[in-house]
Amino acid sequence: MNYPFWNIPHIGSGWVIGMIAIFHVMISQFAVGGGLYLPVAERKAMRMADAEMRAGWLKQLVSHSKFFLILTGVFGTVSGVGIWFAIGLTNPEATSTLIHNFVFGWAMEWVFFLVELATAAVYYYTWNRVDPKLHLKVGWVYAGASAATLIIINGILTFMLTPGGTWLAVAGTGHEASKFWNAFFNPTYWPSLFLRTGVCTSLAGIWALITSSRMNGEKEPALKSMLVQWSVKWLVPSFVATPFLLVWYLFMVPASQRALLTLGIDTINSGTFSTVTRISLIIIITSATIVGVAYFLAFRNPTDFNLSHAMAVLLLGLIATGAGEYGREMLRKPFVIGEWMYSNGVRVPYVERINAQGYLANTNWVWNGSNSSYSRGEAIFRGECGACHTLDGYRPLRQLLSGRDRDSIRNFVVMLHEHKPDSPYRRFMPPMVGTDQDVNDLTDYLNAQVNPPQPAGQKPTLTAQR
Ligand code: HEC
Repeated sequence: MNYPFWNIPHIGSGWVIGMIAIFHVMISQFAVGGGLYLPVAERKAMRMADAEMRAGWLKQLVSHSKFFLILTGVFGTVSGVGIWFAIGLTNPEATSTLIHNFVFGWAMEWVFFLVELATAAVYYYTWNRVDPKLHLKVGWVYAGASAATLIIINGILTFMLTPGGTWLAVAGTGHEASKFWNAFFNPTYWPSLFLRTGVCTSLAGIWALITSSRMNGEKEPALKSMLVQWSVKWLVPSFVATPFLLVWYLFMVPASQRALLTLGIDTINSGTFSTVTRISLIIIITSATIVGVAYFLAFRNPTDFNLSHAMAVLLLGLIATGAGEYGREMLRKPFVIGEWMYSNGVRVPYVERINAQGYLANTNWVWNGSNSSYSRGEAIFRGECGACHTLDGYRPLRQLLSGRDRDSIRNFVVMLHEHKPDSPYRRFMPPMVGTDQDVNDLTDYLNAQVNPPQPAGQKPTLTAQR
């Protein structure tokens, strides 16, 4: 581990990725689903016998495709590049591993991005300017290119959760790239691809509800009803298939990871739900509400369906998507790349070496000797704990450790360091790596945060004595 640490107080660097990623996923998966929606809807319109209906439907598609172009072409693209910046800064070690493995995957991805962007623009600007058949073909090219981006990125995303035995066998030998296809078509590749495809088509429907909700239901009741109802139908396939796909997906995740689902039910905190379980409940509840709103407010009552209804569906979709991505992240803990690299960038096979040599011996960017403006203990906290914890914001260590004295904090750090097979923390926290001195330095730093030293001459307060 020899990269600088990007210190983001309060929210933690993970949430920087998280916020950009959730925003990006909402748009990029719409770019895929909506990419299919547009030519399918256009084809349907072209086959309509009723000329007035056909013209109205096409007019609405022109306006929807403008919305589509701006949303995906501007916000989707910028947030996608934002993810690159954020992961490179937050977890350079893991980003480097991904690039070494998948550089050609990404090269292909970018070719398809380019095709996607170009065809989205051509599609919008050539409405009524080229032969309708040619225009429709442009739409299909867009749909194919954007589907390809999902097909590729899905391999890389799922790799991080389940790299698979074949790749793990060569990991660290320098021949990782020779197992490109094994890493790409890893155990969760297919269930995840189907799950995401379902999300894409739902998002196509949800975003189409936004534009069609703005149509005038009094002036064009038949047209609006037809479009709203047709858009709602895009939600159906994924809502039917998702529960089964989710079971398949979880089945492909290693049992040790899956155990996070029941953690909290079967350990010390019995009776409480683990985060992953709570996340699953949020997804189920928001999804059920989407079904309700989409059916009763949109499908049954399409002419009265307005923008605030549509925004409510979008917001629920955002919560479900966010919860889904967060759950996937939680499921992967304590690793950033399953079984191979911990979330803080420490490679699993390096643990013993670091324990012998000391954590700071190989982290010149985190700890710059006496030139650093902070202590050894703080450097270890940043490098080893900072990927998942902050001091007093997200997963705040000051609060999580409050009430403990120095000995008790040290015991905790030692427990993390020993990383015994029966330790419940093993399931979501990496081992604390380093020498005895590192353990003590980290303990001193954490102790100073939790039990700040009293200014001289002042009596210790009750809380400090605890
Ligand atoms: C891979 C992410 C990750 C890393 C790295 C990590 N932790 Fe944690 N830690 C967690 C999670 C997840 C929890 C559970 C949080 C919760 O219950 O809100 C947790 C909980 C804790 C708790 C509370 C335990 C309890 O039983 O209440 C302490 C203390 C803690 N971590 C200390 C540390 C220290 C010290 C380090 C660095 C040596 C560290 N953690 C590194 C993910 C991590």
